[in-house]
Amino acid sequence: QDPRLHAIKTNIRVVPNFPKPGIMFQDITTLLLDPKAFKDTIDLFVERYKAKNISVVAGIEARGFIFGPPIALAIGAKFVPLRKPKKLPGKVISQEYTLEYGRDCLEMHVGAVEPGERALVVDDLIATGGTLCAAMDLLERVGAEVVECACVIELPELKGRDRLNGKPLYVLVEYLEM
Ligand code: PRP
Ligand code: MG
Repeated sequence: QDPRLHAIKTNIRVVPNFPKPGIMFQDITTLLLDPKAFKDTIDLFVERYKAKNISVVAGIEARGFIFGPPIALAIGAKFVPLRKPKKLPGKVISQEYTLEYGRDCLEMHVGAVEPGERALVVDDLIATGGTLCAAMDLLERVGAEVVECACVIELPELKGRDRLNGKPLYVLVEYLEM
């Protein structure tokens, strides 16, 4: 295992019972406070994706906006924000998805991604996988090829990986509650 991963993991703060009782919140803001660990996080993704011919990095609001842009700049790809509803001013396509309670939606600007582009989806964390599924659906609906999804943290007990229809998922850190 890469020696940089230990400091990345220890710089992620776990906050019990936030935002509601029973949730162990994975707080990446503490990782951002350590410039070495933050840089190592970005570098690990860049090393993996720099030679993969990726033309677009799609980052998921909000925390995918922290990790996606530095990866995009370093690999020479464009950055496309996938936003919560009614935030993007241009014509959008929308994809609804289910949350633990209720529904949410992601939107992408029409024309931001062309058919045939090779896309990387970036977010901070995969829990149930619903958010990443919606992101991949948006990209595939406009004819892009999703090469991989990349997250800093996976909660493997929630089995989100099984929802990704076989799409590869790359994570740096797993968090087990036991
Ligand atoms: C969190 C997290 C992921 C998503 C993962 O975002 O940042 O985007 O949940 O959950 P899932 O795998 O079960 O879909 P959240 O929707 O809380 O919004 P935020 O990033 O804007 O804070
Ligand atoms: Mg999020």
